[in-house]
Amino acid sequence: MSLSASPDLMARTAPLYDRVKSVIPSIEWPAFAEDIDAILALKRERDAVILAHNYQTPEIFHCVADIVGDSLALAREAMKVDAGVIVLAGVHFMAETAKLLNPAKRVLIPDLDAGCSLAASITAADVRLLRQRYPGVPVVTYVNTSAAVKAESDICCTSGNARKIVESLGVPKVIMLPDEYLAQNIAAETGVEIVTWAGHCEVHERFTAQDIRQLRASHPGIVVLAHPECPPEVVGESDFTGSTAAMIDYVDAKRPARVVLVTECSMSDNVAVQHPEVEFIRPCNLCPHMKQITLPKIRRTLETMRHEVTIDPTVAAPARRAVERMLEI
Ligand code: 13P
Ligand code: SF4
Repeated sequence: MSLSASPDLMARTAPLYDRVKSVIPSIEWPAFAEDIDAILALKRERDAVILAHNYQTPEIFHCVADIVGDSLALAREAMKVDAGVIVLAGVHFMAETAKLLNPAKRVLIPDLDAGCSLAASITAADVRLLRQRYPGVPVVTYVNTSAAVKAESDICCTSGNARKIVESLGVPKVIMLPDEYLAQNIAAETGVEIVTWAGHCEVHERFTAQDIRQLRASHPGIVVLAHPECPPEVVGESDFTGSTAAMIDYVDAKRPARVVLVTECSMSDNVAVQHPEVEFIRPCNLCPHMKQITLPKIRRTLETMRHEVTIDPTVAAPARRAVERMLEI
């Protein structure tokens, strides 16, 4: 990373800087420009595409990513990729899902330590025990899990389709793992009895109902959009609940004068770039796992073709079935 950049490099990357200038100070741009320029060239050389989650920082999200979205969109789009190499700018379970759906492609993640507190909260053995305890009750597993956990499930879901998936089963009771709050929020929406697990997203569990009340008191007229991984009392205080993509769609469609996205920090930066007319109030929590992914690490991944994501074939087949069942609905 360099703090000065050649005039040529600055000229080449100027259109990209123009996109993100509202959220990246000009003094920081030369440090990003060199890596961005190298990554764009390496993508062509390696026949690679970059899939980036909505929580990636703006220089990744707006300047090097080919496809951006929520967990559901990334899973769907991964299946349409023509390139031989997919670099997943997101966390490990997202890279595993891309690999499950594209077994013939090389899927790379810039940092193997980019985990997730939800994925870490449950093992395949835990799911087997729950099945023994609740015989015949279908198991719906959030995509924020390892392939081994998906392999023990009947069907997967994301925050974008959880309600639809639960309703599609047409049963009075389901096991939904591992996000306790998402499960409680979906139970409230659907009336289906849901057996939960005590997993939490370390980013969303920190928001409280009191935070939302204080925001409303200090920012009159604010529209509050919350992610369904937040505790039910936070969802109860919000104007709208939805996946990261659903929150973006809300802002795109309604253009509220003032809004808060009760979710990971980078979301507001990424959406604000496209909506200068909207005032974003930004109390947010950082996801330390998402923030493991940086431009220098993406560049190194493309230079070295590491770290390749592989999945044990005995786990991959049943895990793929659970993800494909979700995508069929
Ligand atoms: P979505 O993008 O699917 O809403 O998920 C949020 C999340 O926490 C992913 O890590
Ligand atoms: Fe996991 Fe939460 Fe981070 Fe998403 S934001 S990767 S759910 S810890």
